[in-house]
Amino acid sequence: MRIFHLSAECYPIAKVGGLADVVGALPKYQNLAGLRAAVVMPFYNRKFVHENEFDTVFQGATLLGTRRLFFEILKEKTDKLGFELYLVKIPGLLDRENVYSYPDEKEQFIAFQICFLDWINWSGQTPDLVHCHDHHSGLVPFMMYHSNLYRRLAHIPTIFTIHNGQYHGAFGWEKLNYLPEIDFYKTGLLDWNGGINPLASAVKCCWKYTTVSPSYLQELSVNSNGLEYLFYVERDKGVGIINGIDTDVWNPETDPMLPENFATATVTKGKQKNKEILCERFALSADKPLIAFIGRLVSEKGSDLLPAAIERSIKEHGDKVNFLILGAGETATETSLNLLKKLHPQNVNVFIGYDESLAHLIYAGADFLLMPSRVEPCGLNQMYSMRYGTMPMVRSTGGLKDTVIDFGEEGGYGIRFEEVSVDDICVSVTRAVVLYKDSRKMQTLRKRMMALDFSWDRSAKEYINLYESLIPKI
Ligand code: ADP
Ligand code: GLC
Repeated sequence: MRIFHLSAECYPIAKVGGLADVVGALPKYQNLAGLRAAVVMPFYNRKFVHENEFDTVFQGATLLGTRRLFFEILKEKTDKLGFELYLVKIPGLLDRENVYSYPDEKEQFIAFQICFLDWINWSGQTPDLVHCHDHHSGLVPFMMYHSNLYRRLAHIPTIFTIHNGQYHGAFGWEKLNYLPEIDFYKTGLLDWNGGINPLASAVKCCWKYTTVSPSYLQELSVNSNGLEYLFYVERDKGVGIINGIDTDVWNPETDPMLPENFATATVTKGKQKNKEILCERFALSADKPLIAFIGRLVSEKGSDLLPAAIERSIKEHGDKVNFLILGAGETATETSLNLLKKLHPQNVNVFIGYDESLAHLIYAGADFLLMPSRVEPCGLNQMYSMRYGTMPMVRSTGGLKDTVIDFGEEGGYGIRFEEVSVDDICVSVTRAVVLYKDSRKMQTLRKRMMALDFSWDRSAKEYINLYESLIPKI
């Protein structure tokens, strides 16, 4: 079964968040299960493309409105990632360093999708299924089924996975002419709220859409930034499949980014060593419970509440708890966190920026990982932290709800709270501080969470079952 995954991000080529981790792992596990899954993504001017060799497998020219674009499809030579990797390179448009936030981002992603379709159309390829991820590839189902140019592809099933329903990639109708030879009677399938909405269009046109956790599927019809009614109407087309984690990359026994590797049997000693190294680097004491946050500093993640919650927790617990934050995002949050670090240098440290190996060290060295998310379609951080014996403190939403059981419940291993509020975060911090004093219980819970299976094996199979239900048997 030949599958193309289309995505803006893929680890290790270009990563902004969890989308990259998923697209860098899922195809690998699908291939191990006997599929032929490939990834197609935009070309970024980054380390990976300079350090690896590529073959040009296709060259073409296409139109974006009246603008003529020349493009190339590059294929990574060795397939060493566990899947075939194809990059769409368009000089002047898709050959830059960053993944997002260019003023012509809409043009970039529309062109990416058109070039992909041109390539498979003109090179005569017929995949069994096209799997699109998030709005950056959300116009592909519409174009496959409603453009005269791609009639050859119109019978191929499409799946659309929603990693984040808050971002739609919407733009105005003045860009409609970018889409080639479309059936104008069908433009309603592009529309939402008076504009072209790639996420809405994908949900309308794909054969099935999936969300990255079962709970998130339910939540979209209540909270999806204006698409609630659409998700309600299309609810029967949706399937919730929880993400897995790449246990080759995220393995405390072998992780090359850790100063001290450890297994379940050696978790207490191993974590302590990593904690000491981490705390020394950030001038914090390794004798206190260390609560960490890793992630984008945006409202979705509830990071705006961190400064007030940390401030209050330090007041409540005196000198008995430490916090370490790794992230970047909204300026107001970054500023407040930096101020807090100045006010309480012995209890708080903050690293503003993106640092993959520091993230690994924090998952290994912290005692608790705080995720007060307003919205969390799946969340990978809590699964990484559990694999490294670090207890997640999560708000009950989306994938957090589906993967973390409170330690107060039978068989539980984490801390859960209901509201996105400073009060609820502080209550959880108190529970963490009290729990930390009981080192035997901590050890039991750490071992319990490390034994959980969050590997891709199960979820990759769920996707394969879904594909098989759509691909006509010969
Ligand atoms: P999202 O995709 O919404 O940001 P996820 O929990 O799915 O959230 O995935 C976040 C991924 O990005 C994880 O691999 C996490 O370790 C990583 N990450 C987020 N922020 C940073 C950062 N500042 N430095 C290093 N890694 C980060
Ligand atoms: C998105 C979501 C996150 C999810 C990730 C991978 O970025 O915000 O919750 O884990 O995609 O699916």
